[in-house]
Amino acid sequence: MQAFSRIYGSGFVTGEVLVPNERMARVCDTSDEWIRERSGIEQRYFVNEGTGTSDLAVGAAKKALDDAGVKAEEIDYIVVATMTPDYYFPGVGSLVQAKLGLSNIPALDIRQQCSGFVYGLQVADALIRSGQAKKLLFIGAEIHTGFMPFSKQGWDVVMGRSDAEIPQAEKDWNSKFRHLVVLFGDAAGAVVMGPSEDPSRGLLGFALHTDGKNVEALYVPSAGFAYRPYFSDEHFKEGRGVPVMDGRTVFKMAVTKMPEAVHEVCAKAGVTVDDINLLIPHQANLRISEGVQKALKLPDSRVYNNIQRYGNTTAATIPIAYNECKASGRIKKGDLVCFVGLGAGFHWGATLMRE
Ligand code: ACO
Repeated sequence: MQAFSRIYGSGFVTGEVLVPNERMARVCDTSDEWIRERSGIEQRYFVNEGTGTSDLAVGAAKKALDDAGVKAEEIDYIVVATMTPDYYFPGVGSLVQAKLGLSNIPALDIRQQCSGFVYGLQVADALIRSGQAKKLLFIGAEIHTGFMPFSKQGWDVVMGRSDAEIPQAEKDWNSKFRHLVVLFGDAAGAVVMGPSEDPSRGLLGFALHTDGKNVEALYVPSAGFAYRPYFSDEHFKEGRGVPVMDGRTVFKMAVTKMPEAVHEVCAKAGVTVDDINLLIPHQANLRISEGVQKALKLPDSRVYNNIQRYGNTTAATIPIAYNECKASGRIKKGDLVCFVGLGAGFHWGATLMRE
């Protein structure tokens, strides 16, 4: 199969404040040991209040443009994958266009949650292959802190600004969401893409799927137009602004569907799983990545994980990992790289790329 689009450069930024597990254990009933053992996470970065997803997106975009050696004004299309836009509407794409001072090029938001990056790559590839875009900026950006149910006092403790004891009633409330709040972090990763001048390099194919039957295993039961008004005081008091997550269902789907998608995309491209030089799984939980690795029978040297340092940053995890692997030389020209993810929707999929 001939490749037509490729990644020219990448970059990422995180939230400003490093939050180790111990800080999470001060505001809810959890521990560093539990978080490490069940998820592999050691720390995450959170944004300061006032930083929006578009700010992280612009920070990552500037780094990707530098890395690609492309000027911002050369970009002719923006695609942003996020489930946490600055505002309910418009999306982050228009904010990025304005903040980068670009001309009135098209800007598109997609919302495929944890599989936002693999889905967005297909959109970007199609736009480039059809000649609609020549230099496309694709960003995965996420701020999870807005979902978190902490009080102002709780945030001061989490962000390291205070060592005050949190009242037990508040800790009890926060602990209702402990399986969720410990997993996520704030960050953005970006890539600059365009046509591949070398037909042996670039995106080789996709295997994408959706199953909407289990929506309620991972969703936000508020802030939507199935409700009137779409958000209310009652919703807030009931904690319905915080996602509902049946962790075990998500876990089982991830370790089943992600390996299936990798096999499928390899078969479509006429290669085998054995040919993959590096698998970059969406970073949801280290145990999920290990399960996927085991199912695919890949050695440690051919799977990359960094969730220990960032937590789950949804659409940003894969471009961050890709950037780190390029910078450290773990991905070299000619390597076969596979990206795979699964997230709310449920959406899942894999992409193959020849670097
Ligand atoms: N600290 C301490 N104890 C906890 C915590 C915590 N943070 N969270 C849950 N527990 C407790 C539970 O209450 C339970 O206690 P019990 O036995 O007394 O009832 C016990 O730990 C075990 O709970 P489980 O939910 O069975 O734990 P599990 O090993 O499944 O780990 C986890 C939970 C980490 C959430 C895991 O299921 C997981 O990672 N699932 C996948 C989640 C995921 O990938 N989400 C990403 C998609 S997000 C997106 O698309 C936007």
